[in-house]
Amino acid sequence: MGSKLLCFVLLSVLAAYYIYIPLPDNVEEKWKVMLMDAAFRSLGHAASFAEILGLRHYMETMKFLTYMEHTEPTSNENVTVTDTLFSDVPVRLYVPKKLSNAPRRAVIHIHGGGWCVGSATMKPYDLLSKRTAHELNAVIVSINYKLAPKFHFPTQFDDVHTAVKFFMQDHILKKYSVDGSRMAVSGDSAGGNLAAAVSAELLHDPEVKVKLKIQVLIYPVLQSLDLNTPSFQQNGNLPILSKTLMVCFWSEYFTTDRRLFEAMLSNKHISSQEAQFLKFVNWSTLLPENLKKNHVYNMPEKGNSIFVKKYPGLLDTRASPLLLEDDKLKGLPLTYVITCMYDVLRDDGFMYVSRLRKAGVHVLHAHYDTFHGILFMNTWPFDFSLAHHIIDNYLDWLDLNL
Ligand SMILES: *[C@@H]1O[C@H](CO)[C@@H](O)[C@H](O)[C@H]1NC(C)=O
Ligand SMILES: *[C@@H]1O[C@H](CO)[C@@H](O)[C@H](O)[C@H]1NC(C)=O
Repeated sequence: MGSKLLCFVLLSVLAAYYIYIPLPDNVEEKWKVMLMDAAFRSLGHAASFAEILGLRHYMETMKFLTYMEHTEPTSNENVTVTDTLFSDVPVRLYVPKKLSNAPRRAVIHIHGGGWCVGSATMKPYDLLSKRTAHELNAVIVSINYKLAPKFHFPTQFDDVHTAVKFFMQDHILKKYSVDGSRMAVSGDSAGGNLAAAVSAELLHDPEVKVKLKIQVLIYPVLQSLDLNTPSFQQNGNLPILSKTLMVCFWSEYFTTDRRLFEAMLSNKHISSQEAQFLKFVNWSTLLPENLKKNHVYNMPEKGNSIFVKKYPGLLDTRASPLLLEDDKLKGLPLTYVITCMYDVLRDDGFMYVSRLRKAGVHVLHAHYDTFHGILFMNTWPFDFSLAHHIIDNYLDWLDLNL
């Protein structure tokens, strides 16, 4: 009996030790965050273990999350939901049932998941799309682009670009009764990266006659040049998106070769030949003082030029929209940016806001004291009240501005 009790106590202590992580004071619902993080970390450990055993690629195990949250296209009394193809790219379409005499607004959503995991069919995305379609009486197109490790850059971008351009054709807009002058593109995390990249690409495309009215970038990934910004340094071990996982996503976007991952992890994937690009991501000039804290700006350590030669995507603005020249930012649509304080990607968002404003783009920047991925933590068992608050703010803004 005594030894059983001892075992139980020891196991409980171990479990508590595994679950407990120190969190910043102003993070709400701390225990829920810790439990969610522990569950997520366990999946990460299982994925590493399976890869070490040679069973499957790390990201193939991480895709378990995507399957777990999968939903079939299910219409409700207000919205018709269908899965279809836009020029061979799978999309999930949400069309309001309510009759409308004027053409409708439209939102194109691009899901997150580090270009490796995630799907438009995941429950939190599906719920938000249904809600947006109903509350804004808008058509929602949620794109299921191809993923790494099977596909690398620029496939993800190309799929998104193809689907958006397909939707923007006159006869397609007419078919869905969409007002081409009231369209938004929106994306979270890696989806925010694709949303920013596709907005910039369309701006200078002579074939595209309609213009996006709004881009929404929800804690977006915007550059791979400097993976040691203050937010990477401060938040590298906080829940959901660790620095290691983000670097893993970045390197996997370009290649499965682990050498790029190792170089990016030590921020040595850029050589002195690429130094002229660093001004676009110079956090010393682009971040507000309070975020720099006492970090001292050092140029990223000079690495090997072999990586940029082998993976030119590293310097491609379709992968890193922060590397766009000022005159390419000019004329971008009205932008809504969400950033989170305890997120490695926080400074990407802040730097883009600075650069967009300098280029004369109107930006509404919503910043929250929370961690990466919060917006879609809105279903059981990890349902955060802050997620609902952020979504409500976002939808109110979108309804007013789109
Ligand atoms: C459908 O719309 C009505 C009216 O806005 C609302 O009360 C109801 O909850 C909606 N149903 C769903 C499933 O969202
Ligand atoms: C970054 O900005 C700092 C000053 O704000 C400057 O001294 C440094 O040369 C800049 N570095 C690059 C690579 O632009």
